[in-house]
Amino acid sequence: MEYLTFAPAKGRLATKTLSILESIGITCEEMKDKDSRKLIFVNEEQKLKFFLAKATDVPTYVEYGAADIGVVGRDTILEEDKKIYEVLDLDIGKCRMCVAGPESAKALLESGQMIRVATKYPKIAKDYFFNKKHQTVEIIKLNGSIELAPIVGLSEVIVDIVETGTTLKENGLSVLEEIYPLSARMVVNQVSMKMEHERIAAIIEKLRNRQ
Ligand code: PRP
Repeated sequence: MEYLTFAPAKGRLATKTLSILESIGITCEEMKDKDSRKLIFVNEEQKLKFFLAKATDVPTYVEYGAADIGVVGRDTILEEDKKIYEVLDLDIGKCRMCVAGPESAKALLESGQMIRVATKYPKIAKDYFFNKKHQTVEIIKLNGSIELAPIVGLSEVIVDIVETGTTLKENGLSVLEEIYPLSARMVVNQVSMKMEHERIAAIIEKLRNRQ
């Protein structure tokens, strides 16, 4: 039997993802050691391998087949736009993709003026403003702490994920427009889906039934 390789996204989704997998009997004791610097973990008995990957890299590992299965947010799946199958909504990591900014930016959005939009998600932001709103904007790519942009005058608004809304609130910003809801999804390599259909379908079924 070949190994099935899992690539859950590290970061805020990791703990929940691992406990969901554990709840259907997919486990790896080695992985629970927080002090370990190991990158890849093996469960010989179940012929499984696991590695935690940076969320934005999960779709790439899965597209190339370096991982058969990944777990990552829908925001990353849409932004990365890789050739992978999105097979299941895991109903965790729920948040919203939003346009946010100071209340004063509302009028700029409504008037359709040329504004600057800072974001970690240039593809999603372009699709929203150009294709859905038909508004010409300048997209500025940042890599983190996006809420800083309107505060320091880099942009009028941001496109970012909002979970509890605390970061916006504590920085005097609010949600101005909602783009879509998000949650974590299970993704599968397209070849693995055919070659390992039985094992992968059984995993999907178990995960679906636990919900
Ligand atoms: C995300 C997002 C917001 C924040 C939203 O950032 O970009 O900044 O979380 O969460 P909240 O609504 O619960 O406050 P993340 O923590 O992933 O780090 P980053 O700023 O480096 O992108």
